[in-house]
Amino acid sequence: MPTLRSAPTLGHSADRPLSERAIAILKANDRGGYTVPTKGLYPHQWNWDSAFVALGFRTFDEDRAWREIETLFEAQWEDGLAPHIVFRSDDPDYFPGPGDWGVTRAPATSGISQPPVATSVVRWLWESCADREAFRPRLRALYPKLLAWHAWFKTYRDPTDSGVILAVHPWETGRDHSAEWIAPSSAIDVSNVGAYRRRDTSFVEGAMRPTQHEYDQYMAIVGYGRDCGWDHAKIARSGPFQVFDPGLTFIFLRAERDLLALAGELGDRAGADAIGARIDRAERGVDHLWDDEAGVFCARDRKTGRHSGMVTSASFLAFYADAGSDARRGRLIEHLERIESRVQFLLPSLDPDRREFDHVRYWLGPVWAVVNQIVAIGLEERDHADWADRLRRDTRSLARHAGFCEAYSAIDGQRAGGDDFSWTAATWLAWAADEATSP
Ligand code: GLC
Repeated sequence: MPTLRSAPTLGHSADRPLSERAIAILKANDRGGYTVPTKGLYPHQWNWDSAFVALGFRTFDEDRAWREIETLFEAQWEDGLAPHIVFRSDDPDYFPGPGDWGVTRAPATSGISQPPVATSVVRWLWESCADREAFRPRLRALYPKLLAWHAWFKTYRDPTDSGVILAVHPWETGRDHSAEWIAPSSAIDVSNVGAYRRRDTSFVEGAMRPTQHEYDQYMAIVGYGRDCGWDHAKIARSGPFQVFDPGLTFIFLRAERDLLALAGELGDRAGADAIGARIDRAERGVDHLWDDEAGVFCARDRKTGRHSGMVTSASFLAFYADAGSDARRGRLIEHLERIESRVQFLLPSLDPDRREFDHVRYWLGPVWAVVNQIVAIGLEERDHADWADRLRRDTRSLARHAGFCEAYSAIDGQRAGGDDFSWTAATWLAWAADEATSP
């Protein structure tokens, strides 16, 4: 990730107290080798959170940054799956917990994955190492695990062998509550879900969280996976939720390029050839997600073949993946211009002109700093430095205004979701903090 800035030092700057606060959050959420996203609401290790968190640690503790990724992969399954949650304790305050997932492993995990940002982060950690020889053994140990994870995505999440990645649960996309999942979830049978008690709404206002019916749908999909023993071939073939996701697809394509670079670094020729061929296919394959009428890359329901037609923050990850023709990217920039005229802060998770838009409800509008970071990296690399800078400035303003919360309203900058969030603090340290604090 060449466009990530190097570590900010805590120099004389108006933002110095904020950077100190960000470091304090990472330290407070560190449970010894792994970091919880925030205490209370998310008391375990989450996959793509750990990737972003590693970038934050990198700014003041390089060893700890690598450790975050290493602990994540300690929970990898034999078939290559790197789970979306690693349950490090049986915290009764979290639902659905290990028993609900029915995965009998130690450590316990969920049964699905999350966007593979970790691969790209490993490349960045490696390329920014001051002493590469000291870290080479750690890269060597992680590389086969990343390779196996990518193979898992290819085997179980790329049914058309074209690089278009299928999500089998909204939680696998990381954009848990996007409006893109409403239509594909509408036929899910929730009659067998049974009684359960949600815990998320005891930590965060219900107005910021999914509805009860949506939670029932999530639990029905978890139940399907659990009942078939997390047989991923079966889940991808006949599970209740099968949606091709632009976020996963673009993040995976980027991760494939980064894995290819690591293969080159370690001299894995056979691996490099295989990854290179997959990248060629994916560059063409992503067209499947282009909705020409809406002029956007968006989710596509595998069962109905329908596009969502929605502009979401994931649409703009096309730049990060270096995907799409110039003409298509031009249309994405037109959407950005329109959206920019409608909100105060970029980048809302959903198009503010959609009727589903809700400025504080989970993935229906709020801005996520981590998404801004990777969208901006892509924009900068693809000659849109002005937009990248705008995203960075907005992220900085939001953190100054509301602190390091889970997400922010694009309309008025208020907090959305939980407080003292690890990946938001990490994003501040690694990317958003003002130039004045950098070396
Ligand atoms: C929510 C987000 C997901 C994230 C998790 C922990 O579930 O939707 O992307 O990984 O919180 O922060």
